[in-house]
Amino acid sequence: MEEKQVVSMPRIGDPAPEFKAVTTQGNISFPADYNGSWVILFSHPADFTPVCTSEFMTFASMEAKFAEANCKLVGLSVDGLYSHIAWLRTIKEKIEYKGMKNVEVNFPLIEDITMDVAKKYGMIQPGESNTKAVRAVFFIDPKGIIRAIIYYPLSLGRNFDELYRVVIALQTADAFSVATPADWRPGDDVIVPTAGSCGVAKSRMENKEDMKCYDWFFCTKPIDKEKVMKTILKK
Ligand code: BEZ
Repeated sequence: MEEKQVVSMPRIGDPAPEFKAVTTQGNISFPADYNGSWVILFSHPADFTPVCTSEFMTFASMEAKFAEANCKLVGLSVDGLYSHIAWLRTIKEKIEYKGMKNVEVNFPLIEDITMDVAKKYGMIQPGESNTKAVRAVFFIDPKGIIRAIIYYPLSLGRNFDELYRVVIALQTADAFSVATPADWRPGDDVIVPTAGSCGVAKSRMENKEDMKCYDWFFCTKPIDKEKVMKTILKK
């Protein structure tokens, strides 16, 4: 009989699995070293591959924007440290892509030749590849709790504006005790949690006249983009 492999897949709401690792920026203890910050832990299939290169250039170019939202970036692939270093040097010294050049990747890139970390985080998905991590993205909050997870296959480059939108939306939900509707961006109306009926939600609101109800279970209210960004970016 075929032996069943036990695969661990962290879920939303779980504490981020702990590990120690060697990275291009020194050793890290995860998630302890990131206590108090949001962190995106993401995997890529392999160094010196085109989709991953386009992703790293894009993410590195947005690092300061994520940092303003108190969000740090940590990459991982099952390649070794010297491969990571050589690849990041090639990106900086040789690659010009979509107006990005001399791109320095200053966030840590984990070496995971043993695949220990990748397996802990469900990044090895055998239907896609036994030897490479899929493009996984874990959004982890300042208390070390996994708040959102997105997986992409090897062939599909991620949308980094969407990853930024997820960070801002999660922080907005926390700061204002609201939810965010489809395609929400700062400046759009947010969803007021309706405890039973619109009347109940309305009775809890300060500026009740601002609230719009589409039905008893679906009420929104405006929040200024400035108010959202001021709260999140601490500006
Ligand atoms: C890439 O990044 O281009 C890539 C990596 C692994 C498999 C397929 C594409």
